[in-house]
Order: sequence, then structure tokens, then C-alpha cells
Amino acid sequence: MRRLEGKTALITGAARGIGKAFADAYVREGARVAIADINISRARDAASSIGEAALAVEMNVTDQASIDSAVAQAIDGLGHIDILINNAALFSAAPISEIERVDFQRLFDVNVSGTLFTLQAVARHMIERGKGGKIINMASQAGRRGEPLVAVYCATKAAVISLTQSAGLNLIEHGINVNAISPGVVDGEHWDGVDAFFAKYENKAPGQKKKEVGAGVPFGRMGTAEDLTGMAVFLASDEAKYIVAQTYNVDGGQWMN
Ligand SMILES: NC(=O)c1ccc[n+]([C@@H]2O[C@H](COP(=O)([O-])OP(=O)(O)OC[C@H]3O[C@@H](n4cnc5c(N)ncnc54)[C@H](O)[C@@H]3O)[C@@H](O)[C@H]2O)c1
Repeated sequence: MRRLEGKTALITGAARGIGKAFADAYVREGARVAIADINISRARDAASSIGEAALAVEMNVTDQASIDSAVAQAIDGLGHIDILINNAALFSAAPISEIERVDFQRLFDVNVSGTLFTLQAVARHMIERGKGGKIINMASQAGRRGEPLVAVYCATKAAVISLTQSAGLNLIEHGINVNAISPGVVDGEHWDGVDAFFAKYENKAPGQKKKEVGAGVPFGRMGTAEDLTGMAVFLASDEAKYIVAQTYNVDGGQWMN
């Protein structure tokens, strides 16, 4: 028996990386998925690589009209939404003395406001439908502890952990489980960008930071997007119905809180 048979999911930022791996895994487990992304052409490519169980939806999580429209399109295309993964996010790095207000606002708009107001829109639909649901927020090890060059991103992910707790406690009365996944360092296009920031600020050769962080993981390497799919499937499944407001580390042993 596939674990998400007949379920439907909206996954933000699913055109590439971890979100795309979640979409693939959910479809393997019997779900149909809406691949929502600001990059609609890439979302369409991702959806067509999956086939008829996936549909692409244009969505900018910083824009309320776009959130409402994307949620409506997902409901229209899938019938309803059982599962939301708030996965879209941006990263940036700078020493404290160089942080710019515009960058702070950009990251908080996507990572925090985007998460909260997408969660709100989907929660309203789930409450109205009366059949509960599962909401998974993407946190990060960066939300567990500050880092010298990553103040803004770390603060956004700490906020995601906090929102997961409050929303989890508020929505469980409707049978909606809100939980979060906290990855460590996951290789892919996102980390190519992170590596470039460290090349700039720590004067490293391209690729050097990736090698260093991979070697520092107790498991012995960086994670892959596929390393996270087991937790994403589990938290969306009926087996997770008694799990409320938690953030799970899936990080090869980096953090233990
Ligand atoms: N890769 C890692 O090492 C790592 C570690 C910890 C946490 N995470 C988190 O996991 C999640 C996925 O990470 P990833 O590595 O796949 O990132 P990624 O950068 O590869 O993918 C992010 C996706 O979000 C989309 N997006 C960006 N802004 C958007 C917006 N305003 N509206 C809608 N979509 C938007 C992008 O187009 C992209 O497809 C993120 O929340 C990230 O913070 C990643």
C-alpha cells in the first residue's frame, strides 16, 4: 500500500531542488501534486517530467493575490488540498556590517511572510473542508543557531520554527498537523549559490566550502534532496497524526535539539 494513495499536495518552490524531490516522492507514494513556483517555465518542466499526477502553478509567495490564485488553481486542478509543503525560500549571506535593509526585507518576505500566508490560505481551505490536513514547513539547521555571515537567513528559519509551533498548536483542533523539517546542508543548485557567497566572503575557491561542510557532517557527506523525502512522506501520512508543532532535524547528525 502506497502511503499517500489518493492524497493531494501543494508544494511551493517545487520547480527544482528539494521541492521537486518531494513532488517525485509524493507521486511515487500515490499522491497528485501541484508544483507551485515563481519560475513557471521550470515548474512546467518539472510537472511534465512527472506526468499526469502533477500540475504546474505559477505562484509568488510574497504576493497575497498570487497565493490566493495558486491555492485556487491547485484546488481546481486537484479537487482539494490534503497536504501543503512550504518549501520556497531564498538565501543570502553578508557580515553584519554589510547587511542591507532591502535584502533583509526580501528574505523575510519569502521565507517568513510567504510561509505564514500560504499556510493561512491552505489552512482556511482545510478548515472549511473539515477533513484536516498536513502542513510541513521547511526550516533549516540555520534556524537552530546563528552563523556569523548568515544572520538574516538564520533569523528567517528561526521564525519558521516558531511559526510551526504556534500554527501547530492553533490548528490541531481542526485536525491539521503542522510540523517542520530542518535539513542540514543539502547539495544542489541552492548550495551552489551558498558556496559562491562563501567564496566571496571567506576568500575560498569555488567548491571549497561545499567540501568543508560535507566533511564536517557526522554522516560523512552533504545531504541529497532524496535524503529528506522519507521524513516528508512520513509527516504527510496518517502515521504522523499524533505529531504536532515539531521540527525534525534530517541532517546526518549535525544537530541534536
Ligand atoms: N539546500 C540546503 O542545503 C537547505 C538546507 C536547509 C534548508 N533548506 C530549505 O529547503 C527548502 C528548499 O531548498 P532548496 O535547496 O531546494 O532551494 P532552491 O533554491 O533550489 O529552490 C527554491 C525554489 O523556490 C522558488 N522560489 C523562490 N522564491 C519564490 C517565491 N517568491 N515564490 C515561489 N517560489 C519561489 C525558486 O524558484 C526555487 O525553485 C528551502 O526552504 C530552504 O531554505 C535547504
